[in-house]
Amino acid sequence: MAKLHKKIVLTGACGTLGMEIRTTLAALTEQLVSVDIVNAPKTLIENETFVQADCAKFEEVLPLMEGANMAVHFASIPDERPFEDLLGPNFLSSYNVWEASHRHGVQRVIYASSVHAVGMHENAAGIDTDADHAPDTFYGLAKCFAEDLGKLYWAKRRIESVHLRIFSCTKVPQNARALRTWLSYDDLRHLVDRAVTSTTTGFTVVFGISNNDRSPVNNAKATFLGFRPKDNAENWAQSLMAAAPPANPLDRAQLYLGGPFATVPLGESGVAGIKAMTNPAKAASNISTGVNPNVKGL
Ligand SMILES: NC(=O)c1ccc[n+]([C@@H]2O[C@H](COP(=O)([O-])OP(=O)(O)OC[C@H]3O[C@@H](n4cnc5c(N)ncnc54)[C@H](O)[C@@H]3O)[C@@H](O)[C@H]2O)c1
Repeated sequence: MAKLHKKIVLTGACGTLGMEIRTTLAALTEQLVSVDIVNAPKTLIENETFVQADCAKFEEVLPLMEGANMAVHFASIPDERPFEDLLGPNFLSSYNVWEASHRHGVQRVIYASSVHAVGMHENAAGIDTDADHAPDTFYGLAKCFAEDLGKLYWAKRRIESVHLRIFSCTKVPQNARALRTWLSYDDLRHLVDRAVTSTTTGFTVVFGISNNDRSPVNNAKATFLGFRPKDNAENWAQSLMAAAPPANPLDRAQLYLGGPFATVPLGESGVAGIKAMTNPAKAASNISTGVNPNVKGL
């Protein structure tokens, strides 16, 4: 059967989420070009090729987009760092993907945005996808920048974009916060599938969150995408609440969408704070030894 697209380019293909969506994308295109700054995955899918490239370098991104219908941009450093560290991988790489897409006539960019673009909104505000940007970190600011790039390139150059504001994408929910914020891998794959297969999207923002009873956000304005998540973090409520810290109305990490990212000093890891919520003892030892805890609970 003919595939929907001729060529899709996936950046950040070797990352945790990139690895989860390769098969979904390969099923929708004749050719999947997977890109990462690190070495290729151990095995490639039949219609997948791999290119090692630094997305912060325009001359390395430009040739990738030749003949592509869609770009799925997941490459970045997924944590807070000093601004200078994020400038290349998180800011410039997005410009490079959109500009290269423009020069080669790519129809749509699908972007891994984040809750941290709106992390300084309160959970209780129940925001929808039209809420103002409220970044909680330089990391969140880079997500705002890429969302606005998408808006600009749609307004001026008619490149569509779908911005997936991913919350906490893990195999199972990791902590009490994730009762609100979890996105399951199955729901991520479904979201990516809808972002690629929807016939027209213009510029669209959608929250990447499962069908959680405690979801703090409203996806009503992105209903047309057909994203209907099935998983629900509530199934883990008993064990996660048993390990939860006491409710504290003065703790902004509990009040704001960004969780620990809302309180961390600019330039310092927010993931370390999430790790601390997940496994306080191990996190303390990792932080004191300077080891990156590498927890994916954003
Ligand atoms: N995991 C989550 O819960 C979550 C939540 C919100 C947003 N996101 C976003 O989703 C995307 C994927 O997240 P992840 O958890 O898989 O992170 P990850 O760190 O596992 O994967 C990111 C990948 O990008 C690659 N990369 C980094 N800089 C690059 C560059 N300059 N050029 C090419 N490749 C580069 C890395 O090598 C890595 O393989 C990121 O953009 C992240 O900000 C993730």
